[in-house]
Amino acid sequence: MKKRKLLIDCDPGHDDIMAILMTLAHPEAFELLGITTVAGNNHMRQVTDNLLRTLTYLGRTDIPVAMGSESALILDPEPQDAHGKTGLDGFDFPEPGFLPVPEGAVEFMKNAIMNSTEKVTIAALAPLTNIALLLLAYPEVKEKIEEIVIMGGSVCRGNMLARSEFNIYADPHAAEAVMRSGVRVVIAPLEVCDYCIVNEEDIRYWQNKKTKTAQLCGGLMNFFAGYGRQRGWSEFTVFDLATIMYLLYPERFEGFDGTCHVVPDGAYTRGMTVIDPCEGGHIHTLMKADKAFLNARFREAIDLLDA
Ligand code: BDR
Ligand code: CA
Repeated sequence: MKKRKLLIDCDPGHDDIMAILMTLAHPEAFELLGITTVAGNNHMRQVTDNLLRTLTYLGRTDIPVAMGSESALILDPEPQDAHGKTGLDGFDFPEPGFLPVPEGAVEFMKNAIMNSTEKVTIAALAPLTNIALLLLAYPEVKEKIEEIVIMGGSVCRGNMLARSEFNIYADPHAAEAVMRSGVRVVIAPLEVCDYCIVNEEDIRYWQNKKTKTAQLCGGLMNFFAGYGRQRGWSEFTVFDLATIMYLLYPERFEGFDGTCHVVPDGAYTRGMTVIDPCEGGHIHTLMKADKAFLNARFREAIDLLDA
């Protein structure tokens, strides 16, 4: 497997952290150039603080963090309850041991991409505000982007409205700008995320194991599972993890090429992704994956980080 140069744009967020852990467990596959933050699950400064605390706990203060947009392009931020008051409830984190870089997220990504000798992949785990601003302000980056793998949207479901997923709903204008940028996009919509889960046994395993990353995962996933437990579920979708899983194991996913347009507004339609399978479309939508395989790889990855 070719080692990818990778940027992660995120709003941590429990599932964002799981995606970051999966990335850190595979240095043979990823050279992580940095992580950028954006308003989403919680306010931008809060999710940045969550990220800095997590990386401090993990001893990875070497990873550059850059702060991004404090709101969507046009709409106001709407923090989510699912991640608790801090946006990352369930674990007692240390104070952040380092600061974000002085450049903002858009400048940081532009410099990382333009200074790279190889094309750069972007994993987008949050509203697409930073990415849209990057592509609009610095179109020269487009030919140096390998692909943008987005957790967002849905083919015919929703978690905000009947047909709208949170990351796209939060900034539909940015999402549309990214979809029409011409850059190769891979969408991990709600449908495929359900193949990327943790279950009660995983959570118990991590809680009982007294090692550092296992404790972090046990605490965070136990909190995150609360929402599903109240509804009688025994496995819990770790949405953002689908992006990194796809980059690591593309052969375990099924999808189709086509186009995607985003509905900007409407009481029932804001953030709806209109995904149309058609030949020659530059947007690849993932639909299915090998759930048991991916679950086993995630357990393994957390063990690897603690080895
Ligand atoms: C997405 O919304 C956020 O709450 C999660 O972190 C994920 O990126 C799922 O709809
Ligand atoms: Ca997220």
